[in-house]
Amino acid sequence: MTATRPGERSDALVFFGATGDLAFKQIFPALAGLIRDESLDLPIVGVARSGDLDSLRDRARESLRAHGFTDASATRVLTDRLRYVKGSDDDIATFGALRRELGQARHPLHYLAVPPSLFGEVVANLEASGCAAGARIIVEKPFGHDLASARDLNETIHRVFAEPAVFRIDHYLGKEPVQNLLYFRFANSILEPVWNRDHVASVQVTMAEALDVADRGAFYDQAGAIRDVVQNHLLQVVSLLAMEPPSGRTPEAVRNEQFKVLDSIRPLAPTDVVRGQYRGYREVKGVAAQSTVETFAALRLHVDTWRWSGVPFYVRTGKRLPVTATEVRVELKRPPQAVFGELQPPDADYFRFRLTPDMSISLGARAKKPGEAMVGEPVELFASHQSGTERPPYQRLIGDAIRGDQTLFAREDWVEAAWRVVDGVLDDATPPPVYEPGTWGPPEASRVLLRGDRWHEPAETLRVEAGANVVPRLAPAVR
Ligand code: BG6
Repeated sequence: MTATRPGERSDALVFFGATGDLAFKQIFPALAGLIRDESLDLPIVGVARSGDLDSLRDRARESLRAHGFTDASATRVLTDRLRYVKGSDDDIATFGALRRELGQARHPLHYLAVPPSLFGEVVANLEASGCAAGARIIVEKPFGHDLASARDLNETIHRVFAEPAVFRIDHYLGKEPVQNLLYFRFANSILEPVWNRDHVASVQVTMAEALDVADRGAFYDQAGAIRDVVQNHLLQVVSLLAMEPPSGRTPEAVRNEQFKVLDSIRPLAPTDVVRGQYRGYREVKGVAAQSTVETFAALRLHVDTWRWSGVPFYVRTGKRLPVTATEVRVELKRPPQAVFGELQPPDADYFRFRLTPDMSISLGARAKKPGEAMVGEPVELFASHQSGTERPPYQRLIGDAIRGDQTLFAREDWVEAAWRVVDGVLDDATPPPVYEPGTWGPPEASRVLLRGDRWHEPAETLRVEAGANVVPRLAPAVR
């Protein structure tokens, strides 16, 4: 097999599942964006069971329209570049046709936008047909449904593709504000002196979603919140927050540190987790009538490293919460004495990284109120605040995979370490406490908090006035 060298560009893109949801929602818009912004120029081959080239082109146009993509020239280039192979993933003849369609291409990138249960067949047929030689592969989450199945899946893929050719997508890593966590931490010197157990009291990550599970009941009921977003997106965020500085500039240097920190997280015990299920979840189409699957999870992680020993990392996520927003809050220890004799304020100073729907980095602190008395008020100093108009994560990630840059993709050992963290608390058959839609989950969630810590609720939108870099701190939402 001719291996593609890191940094070598792929010379064709193949996507399996071309008529599916993922292609419609993410892949077509990402490709059109790459054509518009980076003049992407390679053959693009869709593989699916039904339809023909014309219907695939129509679907691409429809997808772009639905996503508000208005660049007519990029749309035309995309539809011109499209090729189509009709056939099924278990039929070797399909792959023979694909090899012919690939023509001179020697380093294709195969995107498996199909259920993981089909990966085995697809990779075996890619190899048998000669399509795997010199190729790379992109696979989607969920990557396994527990540690054992993730290991099996890795083994299946590695029979044909070596790890440097495997790109596991976690779209959270493609988000600008998530990349900015890494950037802000290591491009500045202000954080490092306080970024440790001596100064940080706790770290809190909240990913709140107002949406329900909508038309994804059948999928979601096999997954639940811990599999759906904790094992991947939220542990990625935690690993970026807690990792040591990368030594070196290679993609591996970052991924090594992400892995090391994750590997040091103690496997979750049932006492570290509170689950919840919103009222009405069991009535969703595709959900079992007696489902015990969680739509909410609050957990406490122990990061057993020199830097973080004893600092709780709280993670919370849920569907049907009051807002859709993701925030990280790094709470600092209080000053040792109340020099100004004020009543002890309820909150200590903190860093806040808002990841969705807009991006901001701020420092919550106290400043003196104008007047004679040495009395303060909470303020936020904004280091940066931007609307969420960055490049869509899939555009960034597919572009990186074409360039052969693995930095923002989950490595095999990371994925397995993440499953190791959550494996002991999956599939709890105890019915979780029910919470009302539009609330912050079951009150039991406070059980994971230590030493009087409390949950901080992200606001739906931030009230930052243009030009202002100090604003009164947002009042915490009412529970
Ligand atoms: C997906 C989950 O991976 O991430 C969804 O399956 C979740 O349940 C989504 O809603 C959140 O991502 P984003 O980019 O919409 O914040």
